Amino acid sequence: MLDDSSDEEQARTWWNAWSEDFQEAGGHSIAVAFGPGAPEGDDLGLLGDVSGRDAIELGCGGGQFGIALAQQGVTVTGVDISEEQLDYARTLAEKHDVDVEYLHRSVTDLFDIPDDAFDLAFSAFAFQWVEDLGACFTEAARVLRDGGRLVFSVDHPYYKIVDTDSHEVMRSYFSDEPRREYSESLNAEMVVYSRGIGETVQLLTEAGFTVETIREPGYEQPENYESEFGSFDADLMAKVPPTVVYAARL
Ligand SMILES: C[S@@+](CC[C@H](N)C(=O)[O-])C[C@H]1O[C@@H](n2cnc3c(N)ncnc32)[C@H](O)[C@@H]1O
Repeated sequence: MLDDSSDEEQARTWWNAWSEDFQEAGGHSIAVAFGPGAPEGDDLGLLGDVSGRDAIELGCGGGQFGIALAQQGVTVTGVDISEEQLDYARTLAEKHDVDVEYLHRSVTDLFDIPDDAFDLAFSAFAFQWVEDLGACFTEAARVLRDGGRLVFSVDHPYYKIVDTDSHEVMRSYFSDEPRREYSESLNAEMVVYSRGIGETVQLLTEAGFTVETIREPGYEQPENYESEFGSFDADLMAKVPPTVVYAARL
């Protein structure tokens, strides 16, 4: 069940308030896209041949990644905590004439989704909003079949500790404290977790996954990266990977 009292509720409020502007900001093509620096499509080779597979997208947002997989013959279920993001995804799937099931769930509690239902769980840039990442991985393990894969990206923890103006380290890599940002225009606070790579691997292992690979794609021509979100800096991207992608098998 969605927890009304916590960071999870704050993430829901934030994303409901931001969804329209976020989706209008551009940069959201229908594509396999793990995030800044990662090539579009499965050039990282992390998904393999997905046709005919059952997949769940965790934190599906506007649905672009899942719709791209649905177009390749994958049966996709998308879950997200934000009703606004889900509404956007439903409309987009209809527009692209693909059948994707969208459910209002937290990735930490997929309660009525049966065990062993999927071959693949995937996620792009959603888990940094999740306070209890261990619960999220445990749920992913529960709904995946034996041998199933979890492939996900988050913003790179090293990128996130560096100040984008001064390029100085402004936070400790070892800090457990989440970042809190208040937006007056959204009248909402967001709480973002930046976890070290070792900690993430530990949580995956505890949930029963074996990590297959960790990729830290760099952007070949960062000066050409036109982020309309304003949160990625080309000079910094030339030196520090903005995205980290994990692939793990059950
Ligand atoms: C940056 S968006 C990424 C969306 C999409 N994966 C993409 O690449 O555009 C982050 C998404 O994570 C969702 N989210 C945050 N916390 C969540 C949670 N606990 N359970 C499900 N979704 C969550 C937000 O509502 C938002 O849609």
